[in-house]
Amino acid sequence: MPGNHTSADSRPHVVLGVSGGIAAYKACELLRRFTESGHDVTVVPTESALRFVGVATWEALSGKPVSTSVFDDVSSVAHVRVGQQADLVVVAPATADLLARAAHGQAGDLLTATLLTARCPVVFAPAMHTEMWEHPATQANVETLRSRGALVIAPAYGRLTGADTGPGRLPEPAEIFAICTDVLHRADAAAILDLTGRRVVVSAGGTREHLDPVRFLGNSSSGKQGYALAAVAAARGAEVTLVAANSALPEPAGVKVVHVVSIHDLAGAVQEAAHDVDAVVMAAAPADFRPTERQAHKIKKQADRAAPELTLTETEDVLAGLVAARGADRLPVLVGFAAETGDSTAGVLEHAREKLQRKRCDLLVVNDVGGGAVFGDDDNQAVILSADAADVPVPRGSKRDVAHVVWDQVVLRWGS
Ligand code: CTP
Repeated sequence: MPGNHTSADSRPHVVLGVSGGIAAYKACELLRRFTESGHDVTVVPTESALRFVGVATWEALSGKPVSTSVFDDVSSVAHVRVGQQADLVVVAPATADLLARAAHGQAGDLLTATLLTARCPVVFAPAMHTEMWEHPATQANVETLRSRGALVIAPAYGRLTGADTGPGRLPEPAEIFAICTDVLHRADAAAILDLTGRRVVVSAGGTREHLDPVRFLGNSSSGKQGYALAAVAAARGAEVTLVAANSALPEPAGVKVVHVVSIHDLAGAVQEAAHDVDAVVMAAAPADFRPTERQAHKIKKQADRAAPELTLTETEDVLAGLVAARGADRLPVLVGFAAETGDSTAGVLEHAREKLQRKRCDLLVVNDVGGGAVFGDDDNQAVILSADAADVPVPRGSKRDVAHVVWDQVVLRWGS
């Protein structure tokens, strides 16, 4: 935990900057998540933020006085102290105007002064209309802030104020909170954007192989681990494509999501996205078999006929295809997942080692699913195997925690 504060309060000190956009109301939920999980939060709104949500709300939710100006509380030199004592500054929503002022080092109000004095990690969660986000001026400001080490979360895609739709929505408070707590817990604050400049592909979810228009063969994969891998990679600076099979989870901010149904769609989408990337993580559970024929009409029960027999065809192995297509540079780094159970012939890790040899991927993340654990859970526990390095045990933690360890291992591969 970074420790820039000198006060006796050992809680992590978070500054929540709020600038003047309609999404300011969502910052109340973010504030509540911080305070309820034991953070000390100082809210620093801009004057225009107060036109959307007033001082009384921020003071009541944070339990602390709130000011906007460098001329308030002058005797305690608040314009310097607030930033100096922070362990994390997060600005949500960050408007185009706030990003511009921050990029140019302005310090006309308490929030921008705080951004100049803070030496802790800084996270911006922009929210604005699509045109403003896409304008070269805003993009240049974002680039400037990122080049100085700030984490600028890409806005979510969706319905904006009014009738328009596009990139510009504030990501969900739960996601901003998850990114902020990740940043607070990562020991090396300088490494929080260590995937910057990398392009990666993650697959998630379980494929569905239809017998007819309404029935399919599927599996229990929830997609949560794959979504966490994509969200964490984006938060660490990567350009991420998530190929998602039959998952209705919220789309992670800043991630390009390609929705697929069958193994055929998934194989095509992964192969297309994997062109010239640095890593592919196959967290999806693709079907190993599909019905040889898909009926055009719903298969009807018939009293005088026995139940229809299913004929299955083996599907293509996407991961094996990526391994085979790889050149001498051994890029992309290829990561497989294996949900295993022990049986009378071998234990979980023995089965997994055999799979790693057979699949010839770089890393295999092994989950013990004996007893139905993992599928749909929010937590996970794993062991990461590789052909040429020691096993890496991943202790029980959130699927985001597990995702961080997987990316740490991928980063090591890029380094060697
Ligand atoms: N995989 C794949 N294409 C398939 C099946 C699996 O790319 N048709 C990938 C999965 O996404 C995972 C890894 O291969 O990353 C291991 O999947 P798993 O189902 O455990 O492997 P299988 O080779 O199908 O072995 P098993 O017989 O144990 O199911």
